[in-house]
Amino acid sequence: MRVNGQVVTELGTKVDPQADTITFDGRPVALPKKRYYIALNKPRGVVSTRADVHAARVVTDLVDLQGRPLLRPVGRLDADTEGLIFLTDDGEFLHRLTHPRHHVPKTYRAVVEGIPDADALVRLAGGVRLDDGMTAPAEGVRLVRANRPRPGQDGAGAGEGTAEVELTIYEGRNRQVRRMLAAVGHPVARLTRIRIGAVRLSGLPPGAWRHLTAKEVEDLTHYQEKHASWPTAPSPSRPPRAPSPPGSSRPKRPS
Ligand code: URA
Repeated sequence: MRVNGQVVTELGTKVDPQADTITFDGRPVALPKKRYYIALNKPRGVVSTRADVHAARVVTDLVDLQGRPLLRPVGRLDADTEGLIFLTDDGEFLHRLTHPRHHVPKTYRAVVEGIPDADALVRLAGGVRLDDGMTAPAEGVRLVRANRPRPGQDGAGAGEGTAEVELTIYEGRNRQVRRMLAAVGHPVARLTRIRIGAVRLSGLPPGAWRHLTAKEVEDLTHYQEKHASWPTAPSPSRPPRAPSPPGSSRPKRPS
């Protein structure tokens, strides 16, 4: 083996795959390129794509890595939605996770106007009819907190109170969670994505990021196989599936 034309015989010789030329029997040796997989807490107001030329800040501006790999966001979050988003320079990882057949669960926490009753939560769990068709059922739908208005409290929206709702979806339609909640009568005031697959937002303040572990990357790439029985795309004509069985994802009242 030669490194930059010099014969190397010593085991454990260190090379820089970006800068050094490595050959074996006169042929170049291609080393696997280091790939980057980042979990970022996107703050509100930051956009997830450069397509928005008017945006002040783009998610990729928040991660400054040595060597400046060309990071791209995996999927999208609305500018006014905050929370977990992945960035990567691995095109295959990006393609797998954004492909409609790749069903990675994404969990959202929403602050909504009014306090959803059991009926609204059951509707979310069964799938909601939107203008682009029926959604798949949401999982883990639960009322996390109900902020009931205090007697005598006034001001916009105070009459109905507000609530925090959590739900998990597998699709990625435009503004889907906002539209689902609005469709059951509870417009979203604030939306945060708190989990993708098994990766949680917890511990990352807005604007902060960390590298995903090798295990997290590996697990994320295997969701397609695990959920192979899921439908590939929502169909307006498909009837809603029954809510998930009690116990796992049944809508709960706050304790
Ligand atoms: N659903 C929404 O409404 N917005 C997002 O950014 C993601 C999911």
